[in-house]
Amino acid sequence: MMPRRKWMLLLGGSLSAGWGHRAAGKSTAAEQAVRPGMPSPKIREVKVIATAPAGLRLAVVKIVTDQPGLYGYGCATFTQRADLVVAAVERYLRPFLIGKPADRIDDTWQACYNSSYWRNGPVLNNALSGVDMALWDIKGRMAGMPVYQLLGGKCREAADCYTHISGKDIPEVIDNARRAMEQGFRHIRVQVGVPGMAAYGSGRGTEVAERLHSSPVFEPAAYLRRALKLLEACRTQLGEEIELLHDVHERITPTQGLQFAKDVEKFRLFFLEDLFSPEDIDYFRIVRHQCATPLAMGELFNSPHEWRPLMAERLIDYIRLHVSQAGGVTPCRKIAALGELFGVRTAWHGPGDVSPIGHAANVALDLACYNFGIQEYSPFSERTQEVFRNCPVQKNGYLYANELPGWGIEVNEAAAAKYPFGFGESGDRKENNGGWGEIRRRDGTIIKQ
Ligand code: CO
Repeated sequence: MMPRRKWMLLLGGSLSAGWGHRAAGKSTAAEQAVRPGMPSPKIREVKVIATAPAGLRLAVVKIVTDQPGLYGYGCATFTQRADLVVAAVERYLRPFLIGKPADRIDDTWQACYNSSYWRNGPVLNNALSGVDMALWDIKGRMAGMPVYQLLGGKCREAADCYTHISGKDIPEVIDNARRAMEQGFRHIRVQVGVPGMAAYGSGRGTEVAERLHSSPVFEPAAYLRRALKLLEACRTQLGEEIELLHDVHERITPTQGLQFAKDVEKFRLFFLEDLFSPEDIDYFRIVRHQCATPLAMGELFNSPHEWRPLMAERLIDYIRLHVSQAGGVTPCRKIAALGELFGVRTAWHGPGDVSPIGHAANVALDLACYNFGIQEYSPFSERTQEVFRNCPVQKNGYLYANELPGWGIEVNEAAAAKYPFGFGESGDRKENNGGWGEIRRRDGTIIKQ
């Protein structure tokens, strides 16, 4: 047996020979293929870019590090209470984060999440998301990879997406749907106006319903009769192939919801969205036992206590979280993984009240998560693209990720400043500082929006 000391000498000799080779520049292919890591960057500045190029108030967090040119962007968009998110980031998270390492994403998320003690509110979750996504952007830029690569790489080439189709009446919806189908969309969300009422997802007509107040009116029963006719017309006139989606937007009673889910079963929807409000989610159990209409839920959820039981009991088919509202990419990739275990697929919220950074995060999750279901899509206006360069691209009904490092998006801050919060706003929104107004039943009772 060789004495221990001799082994050590041999080992030491071969190690020093190896280092000698590298020092002489004769590295192996394996060594050359590995990029040397950058030193750990520290957070030097945290701020919010508040901009409304398309009239909706977008909040984007920018984190700058101590390494030259290394920074990242994150979406913190909560249009109805946007000023509060700005304050949460700049007055609370900024002092907490400055000087901390920028490369410990989960650790930083947990630290911020717990630092307010009270948590899971929309303002704080959005603020935290801005920080979280900015750190993912920074890590992608350090690695020279798009974020979907950091999440494991592509499970698919692009994200199949659905577009919003609406009209004041059913023929107009059918016409608009045909146009979208010609553009290549395989999935459409259809909404129709209700005469005299403020229906969700469609324009308001000029008629005015009889009412005991001056606010916009909505009557659940009138809406349900109209929506049922719409879905029947879409299925018979647009054919078997097209995937139909519809958003109830939580505006009806639980038993009306149960009846509606059963009535539309024969039209074979891709999904029925927000059949109940978050306060009424226990009713999903009853719907599930009575029909096979696919159910999507979750854009208003704040807390794991809301989505976890729906997934674990297999009561919904699609989880609709607004990624920034749930706290960013870090929690949402875990939520997606939970869904995979229970056969629940992702359908991240993606209307105009998500910034292009948020849309890029949606697409990264869409590509990297096996249990992707569908992506909601809304087009980026010219002004939005002036502020955000390299937005995700939609082609033939598919949404494509940017192949540049991080989110691949650069924000033109001078352009952003041309469209401050309030830009293009009028009426209720202007008066309410971007907040929503009110909708009432004929007798004056407030309804959920
Ligand atoms: Co919705």
